[in-house]
Amino acid sequence: MSPTAGALTQIAPGAVLLHGFAREADADLLQATRSVMTQAPLRHWQTPGGYSMSVAMSNCGALGWVSDPKGYSYAALDPVSNLPWPAMPACLINEYVPGAKLSLHQDKDEKDLRAPIVSLSMGLPAVFLFGTPSRKDRAQRYRLVHGDVVVWGGPSRLAYHGVAALADGEHALLGRRRLNLTFRCVG
Ligand code: SIN
Ligand code: FE2
Repeated sequence: MSPTAGALTQIAPGAVLLHGFAREADADLLQATRSVMTQAPLRHWQTPGGYSMSVAMSNCGALGWVSDPKGYSYAALDPVSNLPWPAMPACLINEYVPGAKLSLHQDKDEKDLRAPIVSLSMGLPAVFLFGTPSRKDRAQRYRLVHGDVVVWGGPSRLAYHGVAALADGEHALLGRRRLNLTFRCVG
């Protein structure tokens, strides 16, 4: 059972899970997200190690997160279409299908680390792994469901985090997938 909408779980100093915070706005959020993904199609980026990521990504806002064999960066143009990203507050869209996962990492490519990361989950539930800024510390596991929002900043801004392989299922609004939006102060 997930906690009721409006409940709040403190997951670390400076990090909080807002249960169901975005649920009432889900139809509008999904429509806006679909419009972005139509303009800037989801892509499976190559990691610097040469692997194709299982998570598919799109972006909107002035700068979008991209990866290629040379490394990760925030870029003003979609490197495939060479077009600017669709307008909106800087936002990275991650799509997970069953089996897709995101390994433990720090969000450290953004210029201004004083701003927190705001993450919004839609669709199938996921297990979110959240640790500390030290790689040695073990990550805790949190279940994120449709409409949940996680905010991490301050002492947790550089905490290691990731997403465990998505379990199969069917979501009423999104079908067999999870969409995650992260809002970041990038440049
Ligand atoms: C991310 O770490 O950028 C995304 C996290 C998530 O999908 O919940
Ligand atoms: Fe991240």
